[in-house]
Amino acid sequence: MEIKKQLEQALAAIHEALTQVVTPNDLADLKAKYLGKKGVVAEWMSAMKNLTPEERPAFGQLVNEAKNRINDVIESFRQKMEDRRVAEKLANEAVDVTLPGRTIPMGSKHLINQIIEEVEDLFIGMGYTVKEGPEIEQDLYNFEMLNLPKSHPARDMQATFYITDELLLRTHTSPVQVRTLLENGGKKPIKIICPGKVYRRDEDDMTHSHQFTQIEALVVDEYVTLADLKGTLLTLARKMFGDDRQIRLRPSYFPFTEPSVEVDISCYQCHGKGCPMCKHTGWIEILGAGMVNNAVLEATGYDKTKYQGFALGVGVERLAILKYGIDDIRAFFTNDLRFNRQFK
Ligand code: PHE
Repeated sequence: MEIKKQLEQALAAIHEALTQVVTPNDLADLKAKYLGKKGVVAEWMSAMKNLTPEERPAFGQLVNEAKNRINDVIESFRQKMEDRRVAEKLANEAVDVTLPGRTIPMGSKHLINQIIEEVEDLFIGMGYTVKEGPEIEQDLYNFEMLNLPKSHPARDMQATFYITDELLLRTHTSPVQVRTLLENGGKKPIKIICPGKVYRRDEDDMTHSHQFTQIEALVVDEYVTLADLKGTLLTLARKMFGDDRQIRLRPSYFPFTEPSVEVDISCYQCHGKGCPMCKHTGWIEILGAGMVNNAVLEATGYDKTKYQGFALGVGVERLAILKYGIDDIRAFFTNDLRFNRQFK
């Protein structure tokens, strides 16, 4: 029968066409060409109407067989394509679990920030809040309202980067005191600490840096005494340098505090016996402090007959240098990771 030959030809043509199939779409086109509504097989089917009723069953069976074989060929090709796709995908996505893992390097907090946080924690625990102020400051707040008028000789102690006659890079964190006092407009109580960067026109060397970090503390209330300051200083000294530290206050001078003190801690290296660390005195100077000068209270609207306060200012680099025996202040600012990583 003619149809058998046509089937063989069709199958041969399909096998030939399959060698050109690349995408699933190509395969769908091929399938449509033979098995679709207007496809080759459909054409054979429609040829049935030209046959006698006797011829039809056998013919129909042949066409059906042909249809199934074509379908099988195409479907098995589709299966092969799919298997190949999956195999490729698996091969591409294979994970070699024996490869060493990729380590993600962890950063660490800069030592200066660690110490700031340590001091903040301590003071927050005592009811203080943390305050910040601008690094570009007015002469008015950095000096004048701190009882350092324009011609005051004590200004020389803080070599200043001036931006204009009235604007400067703050030389200490004390202007935040003035800002806070003014904000509170004569009202009590004030209990703040202010960490931040400060700037002085110093030549950089092992012990000097034109930028460094201070933490200021300020308390203003009724009945605040030097004893409160002393207790606070002792708490700070013990937190930073060990529970068996003692402190010693020496008279000093700051225009914005009266009386002013220089604070020493007992040497944590030799415990007072004398060693190179404390220059054989048994004591190490750590910070300056004092009772807020009446002139500062008055200038910011506080009744000096009712309110007192104390203030302290501590250099963070100095604390770190003492605590960890760092010999060059520049190590804090050069960002050598070998230095920074030591304090994880
Ligand atoms: N502001 C002073 C300084 O930088 C330190 C200080 C602060 C002293 C508060 C007394 C009270 O030198």
